[in-house]
Amino acid sequence: MELIRVKNYQELSKKAAAIITAHITLKPNCVLGLATGSSPLGAYEELAAMCAKGELDFSQVTTVNLDEYVGLDGSSQQSYRSFMNKNLFNKINISMDRTFIPDGKNEDCEEACREYEAILERVGPADLQLLGIGVNGHIGFNEPADYFPLKTHCVRLAHETIQANKRFFQKEEEVPKMACSMGIGNIMSARMILLLASGRGKAQAVAQMLSGPVTPRMPASILQFHPRAVVIADEDALSLL
Ligand code: F6R
Repeated sequence: MELIRVKNYQELSKKAAAIITAHITLKPNCVLGLATGSSPLGAYEELAAMCAKGELDFSQVTTVNLDEYVGLDGSSQQSYRSFMNKNLFNKINISMDRTFIPDGKNEDCEEACREYEAILERVGPADLQLLGIGVNGHIGFNEPADYFPLKTHCVRLAHETIQANKRFFQKEEEVPKMACSMGIGNIMSARMILLLASGRGKAQAVAQMLSGPVTPRMPASILQFHPRAVVIADEDALSLL
């Protein structure tokens, strides 16, 4: 794994946006794997600003998101579909019918996952997969487990994940308990992986991901086996290394 050390979140966001921009410039019809959450927000702002200035063209890009809560319609403010529309898709010249996210309104999670897996097979492996990391080392919603799930699957969210994500909801009880997530196999099939980590809260997970054993108890550790995984982390996130 390659590590890019940065001072703070602002620098992390600029570097991440530069890497994504380079991908789109080299391959205008690339497939981008995207993430929600706080980690990529600054990079999305940078990309939107470049697109607004006419310096970046998303018209041929396809995107596949990592995950979605089960039971939240795309119009619900807390859904990952809404997050992506608000923070990126509505601000760039992407064709909405090329933006894919698991269908959260389908209460039949198994079916939603099967359908999403078929979409991933159709659009092909991501050229670049963007990731955040959970405080417990999850990537996508692949929570610590006894094995690495390969394909898109239903997940019961871990207690730590519900705690970390309740900030986006009025009450903790409103946080959905289930999600549909790409599997580790889907993530590892990307040609390049770019993981962003910022803040002290991520320090333990980052240290274990980079220098601990590869184990499904620390899902992000699998990235040690990816031939082209790049981590951009700030000083706080690297404070336990
Ligand atoms: C989001 C996702 C999650 C987040 C992770 C970190 O689509 O799949 O794995 O990347 O929970 O979240 P933040 O960036 O909010 O700290």
